[in-house]
Amino acid sequence: MSTNTYTPAPDRYSNSVGFQNCGQSGLKLPRISLGLWHNFGDVDDANEALKMIEFAFDHGITHFDLANNYGTPFGSAETNFGNMLKKHFAGYRDEMIISSKAGHIMWDGPYGDGGSRKYMMASLHQSLKRMQLDYVDIFYSHRYDPNTPLEETMGALSDMVKQGKALYVGISKYPEDKAREAYRLLRENGTPCLINQDRYSIFTRDIEKSVLPLAAANGVGTIIFSPLAQGMLSDKYLNGIPENSRAAHSYGFLQKSQLTPEKIAKIRELNTIAQQRGQSLAQMALAWCLRTSAVNSVIIGTSSVQQLQDNIDAVKNLSFTDEELWRIGELGA
Ligand SMILES: NC(=O)c1ccc[n+]([C@@H]2O[C@H](COP(=O)([O-])OP(=O)(O)OC[C@H]3O[C@@H](n4cnc5c(N)ncnc54)[C@H](OP(=O)(O)O)[C@@H]3O)[C@@H](O)[C@H]2O)c1
Repeated sequence: MSTNTYTPAPDRYSNSVGFQNCGQSGLKLPRISLGLWHNFGDVDDANEALKMIEFAFDHGITHFDLANNYGTPFGSAETNFGNMLKKHFAGYRDEMIISSKAGHIMWDGPYGDGGSRKYMMASLHQSLKRMQLDYVDIFYSHRYDPNTPLEETMGALSDMVKQGKALYVGISKYPEDKAREAYRLLRENGTPCLINQDRYSIFTRDIEKSVLPLAAANGVGTIIFSPLAQGMLSDKYLNGIPENSRAAHSYGFLQKSQLTPEKIAKIRELNTIAQQRGQSLAQMALAWCLRTSAVNSVIIGTSSVQQLQDNIDAVKNLSFTDEELWRIGELGA
């Protein structure tokens, strides 16, 4: 890892991706957030990882999204991020929104998965230790657990806030009826749900009908993950699968089988629309998610500073004509 001494860009807020209040809360989130699911683990390039965090922060990307199981191996993204914070960002903690999550399998045995109070609390403590932090800004239940009463999972989240170990709490990928219940329980506990994190992109629009309006009706913010469909909504797979891409990695979550000839044909047509708008396909895909103020922020993943620069420029044009929206809608279906 580089030993340079980092000084943040003085114009990082005047030259930023912009901010929006998260739901009805007072917390402002950058329209583009950076996720550390891939590209920040022990198998990844540590120098590029540091450069991406610095570049993001220099452009007003104040929000870094993590989870207990991010990185290969699990936990390594939090450990690496914690080391970067300590070494290069000392003094800037109060300018950052750092989130983590628990809900998916993390360690062996009955207490390393799900939504029990035992797992949620132990996992938060482990995440704080790995990141060398006293508190996270947002802690999520990473998924709904049908084998744990919702009161128990939400009770654990509320107690994290009351103990000062998380400033806000959120949920991710909850079915609509369970999200409604979670919002009620958290409100009754005096720790309202700040945010809902769900999948949304030109290729995955399920949340538009239910999850998105439900969050808005409850004053809960919405943050999107995989807005580029893990890279499919960029120009990288137009002519095959490049070495070193997520689809090529054995440890990546994008499967080669998802890149069918039909999908590639749609991506090509979307790329043409993007070019006509004067944007890269990645920029258009992000702008499309951000076209509605109901989406407070999109969490992107990037494997290089170059991708980050490309994506940041998406905020320069967030408006679409009706015809563009119709054509994109047809190709995304
Ligand atoms: N709550 C949940 O359950 C959940 C689930 C998934 C993700 N998340 C969060 O959301 C974040 C983002 O998810 P994601 O990584 O799937 O997001 P994504 O932005 O849809 O995909 C990221 C990948 O797209 C490619 N890419 C990005 N910008 C590009 C560009 N300008 N040109 C070409 N390719 C580009 C890169 O792939 P290559 O690596 O191939 O270069 C990058 O790794 C995660 O880090 C995590 O924080 C949450």
